[in-house]
Amino acid sequence: MDDLEALRLKLNEAVQEAQDSDALEAIRVDALGKKGQITTLMRGLSNIAPEDRKASGQAFNALKSEITKAIEIRQTTLADIELDARLAADRIDVTLPSRPECDGCIHPISQTIDEVVAILGEMGLSVEAGPDIEDDWHNFTALNIPSDHPARQEHDTFYLPSGPNGERKVLRTHTSPVQIRTMQNGNPPFRVIAPGRTYRCDYDATHSPMFHQIEGLVVDENTHMGHLKGCLIEFCRAFFRVDDLPVRFRPSYFPFTEPSAEVDIGCTREGGAFKIGHGDDWLEILGCGMVNPNVLKNCGINPDKYQGFAFGMGVERLAMLKYGIPDLRTFYESDLRWLRHFGFSALDVPSMVGGINR
Ligand code: PHE
Repeated sequence: MDDLEALRLKLNEAVQEAQDSDALEAIRVDALGKKGQITTLMRGLSNIAPEDRKASGQAFNALKSEITKAIEIRQTTLADIELDARLAADRIDVTLPSRPECDGCIHPISQTIDEVVAILGEMGLSVEAGPDIEDDWHNFTALNIPSDHPARQEHDTFYLPSGPNGERKVLRTHTSPVQIRTMQNGNPPFRVIAPGRTYRCDYDATHSPMFHQIEGLVVDENTHMGHLKGCLIEFCRAFFRVDDLPVRFRPSYFPFTEPSAEVDIGCTREGGAFKIGHGDDWLEILGCGMVNPNVLKNCGINPDKYQGFAFGMGVERLAMLKYGIPDLRTFYESDLRWLRHFGFSALDVPSMVGGINR
């Protein structure tokens, strides 16, 4: 019985001194495991004289439950200590700066459309849209381009398979059909811009089969060439952010405008690169003219009462010039490095029409 008391003290002490759950588990196995000291004592019960057996059994059982209980209590204490230690070590430093997030950015095409819309929107023009798949009449005929007109060949048109009535629709070759749709669906005066996708069968460093244009149309009773020039000079200076940018109107030809002009801006060329706004060289940036009276007639508008001007510009070309992007094909390659380099922060978008045509 003295031995038993010694074992009891020794085990209790060991339990109290266990410093972590591994040590405590080792003590449990040593006392209560299959070959543990208490287990062995209990197995030996049959060798004890029958008259002592009951008392010994009770004493062994008491010892077993005492140690079991002590281990449980110690286990809880150790778990608390370990948790406290972990909490202290893992403390979150809320003053650390956050990890940089990979923000999306605005594609230069979208950015350029937004900039143009913001400038012309401020002049009172509002945004219109038309379908990418057009019929021949809207894309050509109504625009004073009859079927035998050479301009049809110049457009490298994508034709769709013919429909049930033999009619072949086209992927619009310019945004000018939106002029027609606007004038057919409303009453003058008109002051609109139409940004959107356009298609021509062409592919090299400055041409892509799908590209973007922005159309402009202003029609009123007294709209004249002075308005056309004022509007476009102002636009060029605002877009390229050069107050005294030289702007030149060079006579040209479009079937849907008369007279027609191409607009050039002043620049210098130094070994392939150019600088906008200085020097004595010129760079073409858009086409324009007074709306041909035939076009007004085709839309049911009286050309004796109304006249107007129209213009069309290539978005990629404007973006390449303004932001120094050398190859047009890179616009559509979705190369993330390119997008991060040439893209814009969403916070820079100046207008309220960020969603147009997307
Ligand atoms: N539609 C012409 C083009 O694609 C541009 C243009 C539009 C010219 C409006 C004059 C007036 O080249």
